[in-house]
Amino acid sequence: MVSVSASVSSLWGFSFLLLPTSSITASTIFASKERSIVAAGKKKDKETIETAKLVARDKIPNPNSEIVQPNSLPPLVSALKTSAEQNAASFHFPGHNRGRAAPSSLVELIGLKPFLHDLPELPELDNLFSPEGPILEAQKQAAKLFGSSETWFLVGGTTCGIHAAIMATCSPGEYLILPRSSHISAISAMVLSGAIPKYIIPEYDCHWDIAGGVTLSEVEKAIRELQMEGQKIGAVFVTSPTYHGICSNVTDISKLCHSYGIPVIVDEAHGAHLGFHHKLPSSALQQGADLAVQSTHKVLSSLTQSSMLHMSGNIVDRERICRCLQTLQSTSPSYLLLASLDAARAQLSENPETIFNNAIDLAFETKNLIRNIPGISVLGTPGISSFPLIDPLRLTFGFWQLGLSGFEADEMLYRDHGVISELVGTRSISFSISLGTCRDHIQRLASGIKRISAASLSLQKIKEKVEHCGSSPFTDITMSLNPRESFFASKRKVAIGESLGRICGELICPYPPGIPVMVPGEIITKRALDYLLQVRNKGAIISGASDPLLSSIVICDI
Ligand SMILES: Cc1ncc(COP(=O)(O)O)c(C=O)c1O
Ligand SMILES: *[C@@H]1O[C@H](CO)[C@@H](O)[C@H](O)[C@H]1NC(C)=O
Repeated sequence: MVSVSASVSSLWGFSFLLLPTSSITASTIFASKERSIVAAGKKKDKETIETAKLVARDKIPNPNSEIVQPNSLPPLVSALKTSAEQNAASFHFPGHNRGRAAPSSLVELIGLKPFLHDLPELPELDNLFSPEGPILEAQKQAAKLFGSSETWFLVGGTTCGIHAAIMATCSPGEYLILPRSSHISAISAMVLSGAIPKYIIPEYDCHWDIAGGVTLSEVEKAIRELQMEGQKIGAVFVTSPTYHGICSNVTDISKLCHSYGIPVIVDEAHGAHLGFHHKLPSSALQQGADLAVQSTHKVLSSLTQSSMLHMSGNIVDRERICRCLQTLQSTSPSYLLLASLDAARAQLSENPETIFNNAIDLAFETKNLIRNIPGISVLGTPGISSFPLIDPLRLTFGFWQLGLSGFEADEMLYRDHGVISELVGTRSISFSISLGTCRDHIQRLASGIKRISAASLSLQKIKEKVEHCGSSPFTDITMSLNPRESFFASKRKVAIGESLGRICGELICPYPPGIPVMVPGEIITKRALDYLLQVRNKGAIISGASDPLLSSIVICDI
């Protein structure tokens, strides 16, 4: 993602370039059409409101009973619609005043409707932090669908949910057991909560140069070690599925942790769709996790930045979760984001057993097409990788047999075929299949990869196939300051040669495989520096480092 995001910004520009002619005119016409529709609608405003009010009064005698929605719209979507249709003299924020002062450049792009519905916390729209109306109803319906005892809508992404989950379970000085490859939000959560990390080294496949899940025995080992030292364990944190779709056995891990009374938090950012088809792995909650955070905006269809935090059982204190969320989230949450969560839930609820049929068929079809292309490896093919359970909607293809890095192949796919991937690695590229994937794009992907294969094979580039395997990630760790102490310690930049033996002041994580070599607070060792320089020389992106070329490094100046 880190490396892709730069090219993603050019995505839209690029796709317009693909249009045969007058693409700019096409989009302009679209925008002005939308405007005129809105303008026409406005004349009827008053009428519509009066009717809406009548309907509302008639149909909802008791606001606390199951709400019957006009046109059976999802509850929060419906509330937003009704609010936006009011002929109100509005003196409230935001200052674009229901689109009247919307900046024209953005209106050209997206139309007026997003502004009309970009409303503040009006009484009828409920309050995210003490919900009792449509937000409560929307969250309840999500809880029912995802099988939680309680669900909270998030406007700060899964990042915010991970912060809240860790702050709600780990007090300062308590331990958090987590994979070393965890998303950076788990590290920042320890800065917020004062928790101390106990890292598990995830599985690693050197052919693919990617990190996998965590095993039961590693979790058990970590718990035992901490217990022998007499430490208190706040929670066990697991990422399942990973960015590459690799799942851990959350059932086994939850059973073990519960036997110790330890809550299990699952970073399920990439798995909001899990459990909705018999060919999909079961979700974290179905497997007994206590807290699961899902990026509804990743595989499902809500707007970017909207996520959900689900709770099950009663090990975790719900009041503490509420307090954390109130601390972490904006006091002005976007109703567009919140309504998009409600809408994404409703989209799934319509036919939860079959909605993914088509996407899953397309994913298997793609795998079969690609598997037969010479020189391409498919992650998840038995015998080719060591990971037992992979989300079928996440496709990862390896290019090393063609003598190509993932970066080179990705560049060719983008440049020559207009195919944009989700994630690029040293030896592979990953693609996300979702409800929006269409067969036409699958065919472009397959024919693109076919051409790359043919071109590379004819070039006989294969002689460069020197690197048989990625180098194993670095796992020797000595922590001198905990994440919170090191965050607040004063820092300074030193030349890399002077950093040996000092305390690292920044998170240094070569991508791939996305396993940090140094986390702030850890002693900088010769092995760590050697490893970093080696992967840097091989072209890995050193994310997090203030100097990505690694001629200097930030240390804690104590
Ligand atoms: C594994 C994992 N966890 C958490 C996150 C954070 O999710 P969000 O972007 O919704 O804040 C991401 C996002 O990239 C991720 O890949
Ligand atoms: C998890 O492990 C247990 C055995 O320990 C096994 O029965 C179960 O099938 C595994 N689950 C998955 C999803 O692999």
